[in-house]
Formats: sequence, C-alpha cells, structure tokens
Amino acid sequence: MHLQPSVCRARTISVAAIVVWALFASRASAQTTLEPPGWDAALRLKEAVDLNPDPHIVEINLEARIAGVEIAPGHQVNAWTYNGMIPGPLIRVRSGDRLIVHFSNHLPRATTVHWHGVRVPIQMDGVPGYSQPEVNPGESFTYDFVVPDAGLFWYHPHVMSAAQVGYGLYGGLLADDPDDAVGIADELVLVLSDIGVDAADHLEPPDSGGSTGMAFGREGNIVLVNGRQQSTMTARAGVPQRWRVVNTTKSRYFRLDLGEGQVFTKIGGDGGLQEYAEQLDFVVLAPGERADLIVTPRGAPGTQLIVRSQLFDRGYGSIELRLPEDLFAIAIANLPAYVEPPRPAVRRAIEPPSVVGATRVTVDLGVTQSRQDGSFHYTVNGVSFPKPFLAKFGETQIWTVTNQTPWSHPVHLHGFFFLVLDKQGMPVHPPQWKDTVSVPFKETVSFVVRFDERAGSWMFHCHILDHADGGLMGTLQLSATGEAQPDSTVEHIHPDTP
Ligand code: C2O
Ligand code: CU
Repeated sequence: MHLQPSVCRARTISVAAIVVWALFASRASAQTTLEPPGWDAALRLKEAVDLNPDPHIVEINLEARIAGVEIAPGHQVNAWTYNGMIPGPLIRVRSGDRLIVHFSNHLPRATTVHWHGVRVPIQMDGVPGYSQPEVNPGESFTYDFVVPDAGLFWYHPHVMSAAQVGYGLYGGLLADDPDDAVGIADELVLVLSDIGVDAADHLEPPDSGGSTGMAFGREGNIVLVNGRQQSTMTARAGVPQRWRVVNTTKSRYFRLDLGEGQVFTKIGGDGGLQEYAEQLDFVVLAPGERADLIVTPRGAPGTQLIVRSQLFDRGYGSIELRLPEDLFAIAIANLPAYVEPPRPAVRRAIEPPSVVGATRVTVDLGVTQSRQDGSFHYTVNGVSFPKPFLAKFGETQIWTVTNQTPWSHPVHLHGFFFLVLDKQGMPVHPPQWKDTVSVPFKETVSFVVRFDERAGSWMFHCHILDHADGGLMGTLQLSATGEAQPDSTVEHIHPDTP
C-alpha cells in the first residue's frame, strides 16, 4: 500500500477518510490467503453441508448419536455427538440468512437444540416446556429461523445440559457479515471444550462427586480444541490470523496465552464486533462466551509457539494443585516473515439503549446447604429455580447481579444481547454486545438490556451447567403487558416459519 503518511500528514487526514481508505484496502486484500497450503489441516472444523441451492438459505441435517471419536492419534472415546463428531459440524451462514436444520435424535435420551446467542423466535429456542416439547429418541424436529446478527454462536442441548454437553454435544454456528470489513483471509473457528473420561476411556458419570461436584462445577479432565488434544498447526511468521473462539465447556474457564511477547488483538465478543479493538496479553473466556481475535504469530522458522490456558481463579478450589493446560501448538513455517502493511482499525458503532426510565432488577446469587442431607443448592433471590421475572415489549431493564457465593458464575440470557455497565452505570469499554457475562465470586456486575417484541419465556442461567441444574436458572417472561403469563407457553405456539 502506498499510504505511508508522515506524522504531520497523518494529523491532517480526517478520521473519516482513514476509515474509508481502511475499508477499501481491507476489502481488496480480504480473499488472499497468506499461509502455506494445509496450514490449518489439524484444526479445521468439518462444515455442515448446505442442501439448499438458494444462496440465502442454509439447510442442513443434524443427527444426534453416539459415536466413537478420535481425540488424539489412536485415542478413541465413545461420545455423544452431532453427525458423529465432536464438536458437531460448523454451521456457516451469512447474517440475514435463513437456517433450516432437520434435527433427528438417535440418542438413548430426549434432547433439544438451543442456538446460544441467536435472536431466534421463542419457538426455535430449544427449551423443553417453553419453546418446544423434548425431542424423544427416534423423533425429529425442524429448526427454521433467520440468523439476524453476525458473530460466532453455538448450539447445544437444553435437556440434562450438564450431562449432554459434557458427553460431547456442542458445535459452532458462524454467521459471517456479508459486509465484513476485517479483511483477514486466514481464519479459524476454535471450539474449546473438555471431556471427562476414566482410565478405561468411559465417559465420567455426570453426577460424579455428588452435590459438592455440582457446587464446584464438574470439569472434564481432557481439554480439546476442535475435538483434538494438543494438535499442531503451521503459520508463517507475521501473517495475521483471525480466530473466532467459543468456550463450550460445561464448567471450565480459559485464560488464553500465546506466550512471551505475543498479544491478542480482540475485535469482538459474543454479539459480533466490539466498538474498537483492544490489545490483550490474556483472553479470559467463561463457559458460553466467545471472542473474535486477531493473532499474528511471530518467531524463527522451525520454532513453535504453545497456546496455553493459564490458571484462572474462578473461586474456591479452582487453582490449587493445578497446572496450565497446553491447548495446541503453532509451528512457524520455513518461510521469510511476512511484513504486514498497516492494518486499518476495526470499528463498529454501538448505540447503548437509553437508560432513562429503565427498570431496575436485582439478581442475588447464593448457595445454601440443606439441613437434611447436606446437599448444596444454588439460589436466585433466595430460591432455587425462582418464579419468572417479567418484562414488557420495548422495556429497558438494568440487571444488577450480585454473587454472594464462593464461585464465579457466567450468567447467560437467552434471546437478547446486553451491554455490561461499570460502577457509574456507563457501558464498560470497549462497548460490546454480550449474552453471557462472568460474575466473579463475591462481586457485582450490572448490564442493560432492551427487550423487543418476541413474546415468550426466555431462560437465564449460569452457564456452568451443573450450577444451572443445581438451581441457578430462571425465566424472563416477555409479553405485551408485562404481566405474569401461564407458566408454559408450549400450547400457544404456532410456529411462524419465515
Ligand atoms: Cu448456552 Cu441456556 O444456554
Ligand atoms: Cu455458576
């Protein structure tokens, strides 16, 4: 590129002009891969096959079934899978596309599919009793909705979630922005997960450790990235890569680290791009959260970088006697380092909802121990599985979530994005739309959410799925009047497919 302004010239160029140039320059280079052939072979996800010729409809088959999967060379595990693999196939759409999923259940238990983070109509949200009946063994269900937003989303069951996600049921849903201005051709979707197996490679029972196991949140003992343990990809030094990363584990936090002197440029999160990029030494992802990252590996040809998850304190017992986890390696290719021309800043304007007249909602998270049997139970405002919260069409609410327990809780709200607020009530910088936020132990987090007119009962729960099963789960009833509705909405559903 020939734009190499001197410092004083740069000052005279308006911000708008730089942005226009930037978009232009990045589009021009968007399609050219700079990595050597096969660089990502060890990590590339299998994609779901689109059976529909219409360019704006993606139509796929998705089958839940038990299958043997290879998590490392020669290491097979019998897992619960979508289409025979973990993670399930990567579903790729462009925002605005209609997605049709012919789902069939060949598992021994009932299940559903929930589309985490996608602003679906309630009938497509995958929650039994509120969205749809359970899909029993041998049955099928067709999910059919428009994916309105760009970003990395994911799918997983909403029946016995801790058990079923732990057994291997999760996959990525990538909605590309048709007007994407990031302009990086070398992209990876990274699905972080873990699986619990015993010495004989049998899946760990979901109730291991009893209610104490629940209170902590059970973590699988084998960490996987795109279904593989410690694989190796290749990269040419200096080439920017775009990683879209999702934490699909049922309890484990990741604190991603590229090693000495290497940084992440974080450009987005759960709900697509954030307002502006930030440089980070570590990227923390709680269960359910996503990050959109630019990574530019550097190093001498023949050397390796190890991408690690460093210890992260998510509460009592979470860092003692533990070690960082190696996730995968990046082998630096035998090529001269690429010298990247100046890259434009990635920006997106984020308009916070007006908080004037917003309703204040208090959410106190607690944990209690039963006097009878000593078992633990999580509570929301003093009770496990609280009565529905209420909201009416167009209402803005500010939720203040106080965590009085000794463990952190990634709180997830179905169907809506929110903006996290700081202590002064202003959006945290850089502003970004989220659907899952970690509320650290003994801390308080507030967020603002504006409800639209998608009536129904929307779940909110801790995405440490054992905690959700242990009581940290409720619903938000959204209606025209904001008055309490009958508890189950299933009978009122008339699937209005697009
Ligand atoms: Cu990711 Cu209620 O779910
Ligand atoms: Cu929790």
